[in-house]
Amino acid sequence: MRFSRPMLCLLLLTTLALSPVTALADKPADPALARTRKQVKMLDDLYKTVVVLVTTHYVTEESDLPAGAAAKALFSAMKAKGWHEVRLLDATGQPYDDTNSPRDGFEKTAIRKLLAGDAYYDQVVVEGDKRYLLAATPIPVVMKKCVMCHDNYAGVPKGKPIGALGYKIPIE
Ligand code: HEC
Repeated sequence: MRFSRPMLCLLLLTTLALSPVTALADKPADPALARTRKQVKMLDDLYKTVVVLVTTHYVTEESDLPAGAAAKALFSAMKAKGWHEVRLLDATGQPYDDTNSPRDGFEKTAIRKLLAGDAYYDQVVVEGDKRYLLAATPIPVVMKKCVMCHDNYAGVPKGKPIGALGYKIPIE
């Protein structure tokens, strides 16, 4: 039997679509890791939205409790309850508080990647018999009010990160 050229193409495409290799590629190789990455996205939206809302509605002068400090209290509570760890990190080299400077290893690498333009950076680590996802997401200067307390943010180009959130989440 002879097939016309369009018919051959169709046959080939159908074979490819039905091949088990394609079916496998659709499934994540590591579903627990994929779930954890999704969790980072959700938490990142949640925490950053809280900081912007608090800054918009409650922070009016320099002496007010900064949303960043409130967020750090929230991160401590989440850690104490055993959920996950989050660190508020500086990317400018001039942090308000030295405890927010990136530490050697993952944090310093992550800040370097984000400053180079990556939108996200992560790494899987093993501690004992548990796997954890270390992930970092950028914090840009989202509003003018940020500069009220952080005058070093004034000349930062739009979109360039001045900080990051660093996550450590169990992969389950
Ligand atoms: C009312 C003053 C104030 C405002 C407004 C403010 N911050 Fe901060 N920010 C602080 C203080 C104080 C710290 C240190 C908090 C700590 O470690 O307890 C801090 C810490 C940070 C850090 C961690 C690095 C560092 O400098 O210690 C980042 C990143 C940050 N703020 C980003 C922002 C962004 C983005 C905004 C705007 C949405 C903002 N801040 C608005 C006072 C402020």
